Amino acid sequence: MKILNGIEVSKSLKQEIKSKVDALKLTGKRAPHLAAILVGSDGASMTYVNAKAKDCEEVGFDSTVLRLEATISEEDLLKEVIKINQNTEIDGLIVQLPLPKHINEKKVTETISYKKDVDGFHPMNVGLMFKGIKTFLPATPFGIIKMLAHYKIETAGKHCVIIGRSDIVGKPMSALMLQQNATVTVCHSRTPDVSYFTKQADIIIAAVGIPEYLTGDMIKEGAVVVDVGITRVEDASTKSGYKLKGDVHFESVAPKCSWITPVPGGVGPMTRVGLLLNTLQAIEA
Ligand code: GUN
Repeated sequence: MKILNGIEVSKSLKQEIKSKVDALKLTGKRAPHLAAILVGSDGASMTYVNAKAKDCEEVGFDSTVLRLEATISEEDLLKEVIKINQNTEIDGLIVQLPLPKHINEKKVTETISYKKDVDGFHPMNVGLMFKGIKTFLPATPFGIIKMLAHYKIETAGKHCVIIGRSDIVGKPMSALMLQQNATVTVCHSRTPDVSYFTKQADIIIAAVGIPEYLTGDMIKEGAVVVDVGITRVEDASTKSGYKLKGDVHFESVAPKCSWITPVPGGVGPMTRVGLLLNTLQAIEA
């Protein structure tokens, strides 16, 4: 069993991005600029947005975080989005989700200019992605594709089983793996016997959000296993009081795999680099 090391791969991709930014600056152009809107003070959302700003700094991008009160009206939030859409000094815009209940996320997502939608959530970008036309790809599936490519994992003709059908991971992942010439099966909460499929899989991408869902008895020898899950589970033995658990029961799955992502240090850092790659693409377009 070998480890798909997201920390190492993301480091090398970030180096490449930084070199491209340095080259841009040498030609007199400004750096790529990512704007993030954070509404309210949800702890996880604040952590994610701060991490995204730190990543930008690391590769030489500019970043702006717009922090808005949780009580902001939908109308006022849309006005802020439109202002950034019109700002020619900003290349990419993300609105961190989830948003407070009184705000319609779909409306916000669809108001972001699809040319600045570096999350790849706008219906226009979803459509372009499904057709295989170059556009912004949702960061997690994009990062996974980059990781598989880095380790030269064969996808053509392989059976890829994706567990989970979310708009941001499962569905786009299925489109991207099809484009990589895999045979794709998508399992979800209404699939009667998920293990029937996972036992046949050459590549498994687990994105269910249930800690340690995929166990060793559910996979075949030599499978490649990618774990998208990241759930905080209470653990009194740690300083923080919790532990991060993936969707894969690592102890039973790892010995049977050819390749596996750890949690943390697997898909997470690749997701972060996916957003940087999109932002670089936004300024190059
Ligand atoms: N909340 C959780 N994941 C994401 C993401 O990828 N983008 C945004 N905008 N919000 C999120």
